[in-house]
Amino acid sequence: MNQRNLTPSALLQPVFDYHEATKHRFEAFASGPGFLDWATQPDPFRRYAGAPLIRLKTVAVTDEPRYDAIFTPGSLPPAAPVNHHTISQLFYDSLALSAWKRLGETRWALRVNASSGNLHPTEGYLVCGPVTGLCERPMVCHYAAKEHGLEVRAEFDPELWNTLCAGFPAGTLFVGLASIHWREAWKYGQRAYRYCMHDAGHALGALAFAAAGLGWRMRLLDEPGTDELALLLGTSQPHEAEPEEPDLLLACVPVQQAIKQPELPAAALQAFESLDWQGSPNRLSPSHLDWGIEAFAARLRKPRGVIEYQPFTHPPQSFSPPPRPPALRRLIRQRRSAVAMDGETSLPRDDFYRMLARTLAVPGSVPFDALPWKSRLHLALLVHRVDDLPPGLYLLVRDPAQTAALRQALTQAGPWRRPPGCPESLPLYCLMEADARAAARQISCQQDIASDGCFSLAMLAGFSGPLECYGPWFYPRLYWEAGMIGQLLYLEAEAAGIRSTGIGCFFDDPMHEVLGIEDRTFQDLYHFTVGGPVEDTRLTTLPAYE
Ligand SMILES: Cc1cc2nc3c(=O)[nH]c(=O)nc-3n(C[C@H](O)[C@H](O)[C@H](O)COP(=O)(O)O)c2cc1C
Repeated sequence: MNQRNLTPSALLQPVFDYHEATKHRFEAFASGPGFLDWATQPDPFRRYAGAPLIRLKTVAVTDEPRYDAIFTPGSLPPAAPVNHHTISQLFYDSLALSAWKRLGETRWALRVNASSGNLHPTEGYLVCGPVTGLCERPMVCHYAAKEHGLEVRAEFDPELWNTLCAGFPAGTLFVGLASIHWREAWKYGQRAYRYCMHDAGHALGALAFAAAGLGWRMRLLDEPGTDELALLLGTSQPHEAEPEEPDLLLACVPVQQAIKQPELPAAALQAFESLDWQGSPNRLSPSHLDWGIEAFAARLRKPRGVIEYQPFTHPPQSFSPPPRPPALRRLIRQRRSAVAMDGETSLPRDDFYRMLARTLAVPGSVPFDALPWKSRLHLALLVHRVDDLPPGLYLLVRDPAQTAALRQALTQAGPWRRPPGCPESLPLYCLMEADARAAARQISCQQDIASDGCFSLAMLAGFSGPLECYGPWFYPRLYWEAGMIGQLLYLEAEAAGIRSTGIGCFFDDPMHEVLGIEDRTFQDLYHFTVGGPVEDTRLTTLPAYE
């Protein structure tokens, strides 16, 4: 049936069905393969055979800017010029490899952006005009992470470029993200679509941090339709390999001030269909199992249209702890997931408050400034070891306008009390004092990392409300916001001298029961843990690039 003829609730039903079907329950995990079929393990690197490769530079890590400076208005570095070096830096600090790991004969790559199971479904694209030292003609490129290079998929006329970027500041680039769902589905089955969208959010966050380091800004362009993005990025071109579903498009502007976003003209996007596309994508696995994800993703494609998002007013932050020495790029490239937590390290209370304050989408905040919609996710925290703070269940309300709705939804919460020493501008509440370690472990699929850290958390999304307001295409956007919070927490943990880990494996409804959530107003979308790491000494670390 044509999707256009469906009522809004009929359009949303498949989203609710998918969400319910892919919940992990104590009785049964969401449908998945149940074992790893090594014969069909997907190649982690997509290449376009036949597309010319432009090598990017592996840039030396610099002491400036400092990590904390990018959160302080007025301390951001001046906008760098757009050239071969700075484009290299942008990708090196966002989607590049960060290291190779070796255990015996096995070797695998890690990347700057985190990914569920290290499977990396997210592919990056650059659409740019002529760039000094990089290209003389406008082009669409696929980013090849293993080579740290740009595969030129198509070149196009300067006239088309001028139409596309008319109204944007000089030097604007566009960065696109697309997902190869099969990479995650190979291991995680039906629930994999969720992880792909978390990962897209991590990549989006990583790009926003990398841009901030250059004094640039990223902004999500939400008016083109998904089909138009497929034309622009070339993912709609026919081929025999695993499909790539376009997720999002960012304008990367080399200025610091907020810009009024012009529209991308539909006719210009349409013109990309008939470009002379070069290169054929590699096949990642010899055979596949169909978990229904491509069909589901097709239902979530956004139609073209300007979205009038609700305005977001967050009170200005009065909490400004002293800046710390770590350099932004050092933290970006050293970021790793903890594979185990020590069960001992305790976090100073002010570091905890600083981390939480950084997750607020206050005006101009990195990375959330890239999103056009107001914050939809809140943090339910299970605090285990934070100095001078009673262990227990806490709630960070990321949009104060949602306070009343959360009070109504969280029926298990005791009286909401302000924690000791909490900055006035941080909307954090203690809902219950308790030793929550056993609950944290059990709910995060019995993973010790959730109980042995300083705290773990569940990201609660306003769910049925925004979906009913905007439509099915908003479902992935909730995960993107979750992934961005995750990428920020990874860097915050590094800056505090500890580590963190994303947790996609959790039991959805048992967490809802802990909180007393009884309907779909709020749903738990992602877990995270932050604590003192235990290193795996069996592994050897090798450089990302020779
Ligand atoms: C969406 C998402 C879900 C994840 N879920 C888990 C998890 O349930 N348990 C776990 O130990 N690690 C989890 N991780 C961590 C990944 O395994 C880790 O990011 C990946 O192995 C790459 O390692 P790196 O983060 O050190 O680069 C998750 C990461 C992401 C981004």
